[in-house]
Amino acid sequence: MKKLLLPLVAIIVVTAIGWNYLSIPRAAHWSEDELRLIASLSLDALPPLSPDPSNRVADDPAAAELGHRLYFDTRLSSNGQVACATCHKPELMFTDGLPLAVGVGIGPVHTPSLVGLAYSPWFYWDGRKDSQWAQALAPLEAKHEHATDRIQLLQLLSTDSDYRVMYEDIFGELPVVSNLPKTGTPEGDEEQLANWNTLDTGTQRAISEFFANLGKAIAAYERKIMPGPGRFDEYITQLATNPAETEALNNTEIAGLRIFIDKGQCVSCHNGPLLSNHEFHNTGVLAVSGTMPSMGRYDGVRTSRNDPFNCLGEFSDATTAECTRVTLRPGCERSGWRDENADTEKHIANRALYARRADVDS
Ligand code: HEC
Ligand code: HEC
Repeated sequence: MKKLLLPLVAIIVVTAIGWNYLSIPRAAHWSEDELRLIASLSLDALPPLSPDPSNRVADDPAAAELGHRLYFDTRLSSNGQVACATCHKPELMFTDGLPLAVGVGIGPVHTPSLVGLAYSPWFYWDGRKDSQWAQALAPLEAKHEHATDRIQLLQLLSTDSDYRVMYEDIFGELPVVSNLPKTGTPEGDEEQLANWNTLDTGTQRAISEFFANLGKAIAAYERKIMPGPGRFDEYITQLATNPAETEALNNTEIAGLRIFIDKGQCVSCHNGPLLSNHEFHNTGVLAVSGTMPSMGRYDGVRTSRNDPFNCLGEFSDATTAECTRVTLRPGCERSGWRDENADTEKHIANRALYARRADVDS
């Protein structure tokens, strides 16, 4: 009996390994409902990208080309070493592979991917920006990222003849720089702010409009950063066309997919062709020790409402009616939190906010 045990164990081990790692697909036995759910995760199910009415050049190829250059240009930083691509590297799926982002300084969080992000209605982990062009402005002036400012950027585009031609073809003449201070922004340190305050409101507005246009060009480029089909998509096609031969995924991966859509319920948040519902959730991540717990989406809503570059702001190309992100409407934040007896329009606001408030309400 003992003599038999060893070969028996060996056979079991070899079979188990072969089962998982050799490409002998186990018939997956998905139910009709599961097949439909899996099909909904295919990139083939991705709808065309909606227009962005707040950015009139969102789909203008010349703007995307300008944005593409800006995205990779390290001159858009105080030390000449940081571009968007420093942190959002194309070769790493537009991330950097670091625990914390490193620009001119070290940031508080890690760098997310930008692939397919144009489909998202909100930007940043707490959704404090409501468009991709408004988002693009923040790192340029953030001290730990590019650490430059809108006046320095205007000086750069005015003196670089390629940039000047490209910009002016799309947006019209650049504001005149001859009498401007060297630096300045309302978002900066004391000196930048003092410089900014020496300017009359007309000049300030013209410079901020130029700044917004840079964001719009960068966003036009970012809208082209799309995911390509992978083995998972191939598997879904195989399931639909020839379910007997689904070798695109091995058995371990198929078992993982089962957990993903079934026991793990990952799919309740990671769903649709981009594997995200683009909503806000409390994932239970604790605050860094020594810091206050984050207010998450609660602060995100406030910040996006007060952002001069939001959809309702003077630099947006959208009409008020086109700014459908309900949280930006005055009063919605309160009603979203407390008012149970809201009218129909507020009711929509309630639904959107209730889904997102999970971020602060565990
Ligand atoms: C120093 C590294 C760094 C640089 C430089 C940088 N980013 Fe980011 N980016 C980050 C980090 C970190 C986040 C996440 C911050 C957060 O959510 O609070 C982020 C977030 C974003 C997001 C939102 C992602 C999401 O999932 O909502 C977009 C879009 C983005 N960056 C684009 C850009 C563009 C465009 C530039 C250049 C103008 C740029 N970034 C420059 C590190 C960087
Ligand atoms: C309640 C909603 C929810 C569920 C359920 C959920 N996730 Fe997530 N997941 C999130 C959120 C929100 C983030 C972003 C967290 C952050 O950036 O701090 C995330 C991030 C991730 C990431 C990192 C993505 C990236 O771009 O870096 C992975 C991988 C992931 N989840 C896998 C899973 C798996 C696997 C499961 C199931 C076992 C799962 N998630 C279940 C909400 C969820």
